[in-house]
Amino acid sequence: MSAHAMSTATIHPAWLRLTHWLNAVAVVLLATSGWRIYNAAPFFPFELPRALTLGGWLGGALQWHFAAMWLLVANGLLYLVINIVSGRLRRQFFPLSPRLLLADFLAALKGKLAHADPRHYNMVQRAAYLFVMLDCIVLVLSGLVLWKSVQFPLLRELMGGYDSARRVHFIAMALLVGFVGVHLVMVALVPRTLLAMLRGR
Ligand code: HEM
Repeated sequence: MSAHAMSTATIHPAWLRLTHWLNAVAVVLLATSGWRIYNAAPFFPFELPRALTLGGWLGGALQWHFAAMWLLVANGLLYLVINIVSGRLRRQFFPLSPRLLLADFLAALKGKLAHADPRHYNMVQRAAYLFVMLDCIVLVLSGLVLWKSVQFPLLRELMGGYDSARRVHFIAMALLVGFVGVHLVMVALVPRTLLAMLRGR
């Protein structure tokens, strides 16, 4: 590809950018309202800072949580289905080699991980993005158990019962928040990727 074609070719198609940003909105609404719901009946010996929570009170937070969950589910499904059907998931995120993942991870720690071509994800990106996709699926499934525990008995028992599903949901949330924190640091370190996720190239 010529240098000109490289600079004008699309890196992230419009559907990807749209679903990515809608997802980011859904995750922020879900996490902040979820923290308010957790504070109403904490099962760890701490509450989350009230200033970071959404919804004002338990009822309000539940409304936000239920509204945003539809956004995450519909939009997340759209992202996954287009990704899988178009073959992009396989192209962008595979193969995933544990040996190369370790090498890329060590290089990243030394600040030496190449990010030369934003069209291709390195092993650390592949692993992180696949992880967050799976984590969101766990969040939705454990959320289903909490929302309709009588209707999903198999799922509930697979998660070790209702109380255990609450912990699964909480831990998956914490991992998602951890991902977002690292994700934002990475984006700040390579701001060009943000431009590509905003305007496509
Ligand atoms: C407002 C906060 C966010 C910003 C600024 C942001 C920014 C970005 C950028 C710049 C990229 C492209 C990175 C690259 O080239 O490696 C990206 C990709 C990605 N982000 Fe985010 N992101 C945010 C929130 C989120 C959240 C909350 C999630 C998870 C639910 C998420 C999941 C992903 C995934 C899975 C990809 C890879 C997408 C693909 O190529 O299919 N992001 N993000």
